[in-house]
Amino acid sequence: MSGETILIVEDNLVLRDGLRDMLANDGYHMLCVSNGKEALDQMSTFTPDLILSDISMPEMDGYEFLRAVRTRSEWVTIPFLFLTARGEKEDILIGKNLGAEDYLIKPINREELLTAVRARLTRSQEIKVAQLQQAYEASLTVLANAIDVRDPYTRGHVERVTAYAQELAQQVGIQGRALEQIRFGAILHDIGKIVIQDDVLLKSAPLTPQEWDLMMRHPITGAEMIKDIPYLAPAIPIIRHHHEKWDGNGYPDHLKENAIPLGARIVTVADSFDAMTIDRPYRKGRSLEEARQEIIQCSARHFDPLVVQAFLRAWEAHRIQDIFTFWRQKIG
Ligand SMILES: [Fe+2]
Ligand SMILES: [Fe+2]
Repeated sequence: MSGETILIVEDNLVLRDGLRDMLANDGYHMLCVSNGKEALDQMSTFTPDLILSDISMPEMDGYEFLRAVRTRSEWVTIPFLFLTARGEKEDILIGKNLGAEDYLIKPINREELLTAVRARLTRSQEIKVAQLQQAYEASLTVLANAIDVRDPYTRGHVERVTAYAQELAQQVGIQGRALEQIRFGAILHDIGKIVIQDDVLLKSAPLTPQEWDLMMRHPITGAEMIKDIPYLAPAIPIIRHHHEKWDGNGYPDHLKENAIPLGARIVTVADSFDAMTIDRPYRKGRSLEEARQEIIQCSARHFDPLVVQAFLRAWEAHRIQDIFTFWRQKIG
């Protein structure tokens, strides 16, 4: 059973009933009306998942109806399929220009109808998921930037680290959902700093041992903060371990080599490269070349040699420099 609701707008009752039966048999919920006006009335209380509409109808024709549908933001993504009697080029062209996804030529056979409907519903579902994910990632970035706002010298840190980490991950061969998880981890890596008071977070003089202790808790705090959000669970190891070092001299758990999750090893390189290259009130950032040398020198000590290799490949492809330049121009 499909479960989605399809709105049929058709004044020919025989045809309408035929379409309704074919789709109802495939598990769809059906709403049937005779013209655009009635359809809009229905839609004032209910949003269908897909619309199948005739073109010439009394009261309000299909074109006018489609125009009305596309003016409302909550309706713009509803797949809209025209039913046309003649399949005339002009009808199809007008329909497409108005934003109809597709058209079906009457008489319509069952296979053709179901294939078109299924394809459009799947596509619209994919778009919805992608939009949701984009919105989700954008809100995570806003949350993560709460730290950047307090410390203007790290402005863009979250976005740059995320961009570098994504590039390195791709160079290592990571893709799909695993890549998304690394992005989430990178966005949120320093989220635990949110609990550190300004006088410590923004201090330009060297930190006291107590202040260091506080600062060094941010990976643990950050991982704790998101532990109850199942969707972000894969980001927890990245947040908790982004200050571990390959040789075991990092924190908080002194993990060594491959015991450090790969996502964390990637974010470590991205984070360190950014920290080296940004200007601070008390010191100017290193040049990109100096930072590259430092990454190489610290291979197998601070950094995973495999990730360093990935970094060098990204460097060769000019990807690292491009990300740096993009953000320098954006932030100034
Ligand atoms: Fe950190
Ligand atoms: Fe960081």
